[in-house]
Amino acid sequence: METELKDRVVLVTGASTGIGAATARAYAQEGARVAISYRNNPEKAEKVVSEIEGAGGQAFAVRLDLEALETVEEAVAAVVAHWGRIDVLVANAVRWGGDGPPDPSVRFEHVPLEEWQAMVSANLIGAAAQVRAVLPGMRSRGWGRIVLISSSVAEEGVPGPGPYGTSKSGLYGLARSLAWEAGRDGILVNVVAPGFTLTDSRPVPKAIADRIAAGTPTRRLSVSDDVAKLVVFLGSGANGNLTGEVVRDGSSAARAPHVGP
Ligand SMILES: NC(=O)c1ccc[n+]([C@@H]2O[C@H](COP(=O)([O-])OP(=O)(O)OC[C@H]3O[C@@H](n4cnc5c(N)ncnc54)[C@H](OP(=O)(O)O)[C@@H]3O)[C@@H](O)[C@H]2O)c1
Repeated sequence: METELKDRVVLVTGASTGIGAATARAYAQEGARVAISYRNNPEKAEKVVSEIEGAGGQAFAVRLDLEALETVEEAVAAVVAHWGRIDVLVANAVRWGGDGPPDPSVRFEHVPLEEWQAMVSANLIGAAAQVRAVLPGMRSRGWGRIVLISSSVAEEGVPGPGPYGTSKSGLYGLARSLAWEAGRDGILVNVVAPGFTLTDSRPVPKAIADRIAAGTPTRRLSVSDDVAKLVVFLGSGANGNLTGEVVRDGSSAARAPHVGP
């Protein structure tokens, strides 16, 4: 299948680790020039850049902070200054809140409203800011692909982390509206909703991973590369006319709650 990505410019936000880093590498393997955003870990982003360049590809690291939305436009401007365009946006950067994924033991009423505001601002309005910044260029060239990274938590829910799941479910509405608005300009926009995914950023004890995997349709958890391949398909010329959709991967823990080990 032809992805038509050779020399296209792709911005993958939050690509210093995890799913974003795997996605950046996967785009580079298809011949795309890849901009990688980071927030706190420039050295990890530079490592991804070095890996891509070492394999003969082109990559460029730029800082983007979802908690300082002016940096979104600055990052996009830096990529455009470097390569002249952005053809594909993968809005993958995430504000987890705290030190990592949300804590399911936290009681709903104990989450301060400030945390709701910060989460929705970063993960939902932050995604809208990324789209706003890249859209005029895509429109002017009559071609673009946008992939928003949500989470199975958006639909399935989990105890406790209301703000995170809510911010991720907002991406569905964003994609559906944008698909109608930008489709006539050759821009396709879709959501990928990964389930629990094994990444290089956070080790998960095997017993926990096995328990979650047992409740999935495939009885295995996705790894970053599984999600990356899906994103590259949706965000490439191989995707001819699929837009406004949410694609769930096989790692969703609660997709098949009746399934046992
Ligand atoms: N892993 C999973 O099980 C899972 C499941 C469902 C959905 N997802 C979604 O998949 C995406 C990637 O997840 P992941 O597990 O691969 O994440 P990760 O490894 O923790 O990486 C997060 C990325 O986002 C950046 N980042 C963190 N805070 C940021 C902020 N405030 N502003 C801008 N960038 C920020 C980090 O940059 P620095 O490290 O440089 O600070 C890093 O590049 C996220 O959108 C997440 O919601 C993940």
